[in-house]
Amino acid sequence: MTDNTIGIMGAMPEEIDSIVSLLSKVSKHQVGGRTYYEGYLNNIKAIVVFSRWGKVAAAATATTLILKFKIKELIFSGVAGAVNPNLNIGDIVIGKRFFQHDMDARPLMKQFEIPLLNISYFESPKDKTALFQSTINELLDQQNLLKVIPQEDLQEFNIHNPQLYIGDIASGDKFFAKEEDKQQLLSLLPNVLCVEMEGAAVAQIAYEYQVPYSIIRTISDAADEQAKVNFPAFIQNISSQYSSEIIKLYFSRLLLS
Ligand code: ADE
Repeated sequence: MTDNTIGIMGAMPEEIDSIVSLLSKVSKHQVGGRTYYEGYLNNIKAIVVFSRWGKVAAAATATTLILKFKIKELIFSGVAGAVNPNLNIGDIVIGKRFFQHDMDARPLMKQFEIPLLNISYFESPKDKTALFQSTINELLDQQNLLKVIPQEDLQEFNIHNPQLYIGDIASGDKFFAKEEDKQQLLSLLPNVLCVEMEGAAVAQIAYEYQVPYSIIRTISDAADEQAKVNFPAFIQNISSQYSSEIIKLYFSRLLLS
């Protein structure tokens, strides 16, 4: 058995349940109010945990995974609001660069610059991105993902032919639910594909502790006035299937790589 333990963080308890159900020999550990599920998938040890919401909570969870559970790779799976108008609900984004959109220490430094690190974004490791890219492309090409989601749920969200995007993600302690706020963000960070509340914080911790990481987000809403309706419905019905199918195939590919 390999000791390359992989940490998996999910942004929703529903996603955690679906990933934990893939594991064998599951045991539970309580640390700092979080439940860390330890188990095995394809003989690879995994620690699965609900990130909790927001940058601080997610950073603390990631730090525990690294220091206490000694993970050697970190995967974050969750949902996001689309800010790029080409993205649709059900599309998947692999984050390439991660910005903290609420980091602003001007005039001491440039807007978005992370204090003490002299950088304005974190970039995910290219080899992990490539492996997730081919994994998710396989899922989408074979339409395997759509087969496990009830037809009426796909219809409700108009999901026919989900696409994969690789690009910028902006994270911060804000749920985007107004067109005006989305446009304001896009005027500052025009290349951002989607927004969420944890990724760039987890990326910072992984960068500082030098742990390879991947952050995968499924689009649950368009970060506009409809977001408060679409987001909970998508989580309830669809997002967990995305997470578990992606993780299952990724782990089977790791076995071969
Ligand atoms: N995660 C999913 N949708 C989001 C939104 N609209 N804003 C912030 N985080 C999100």
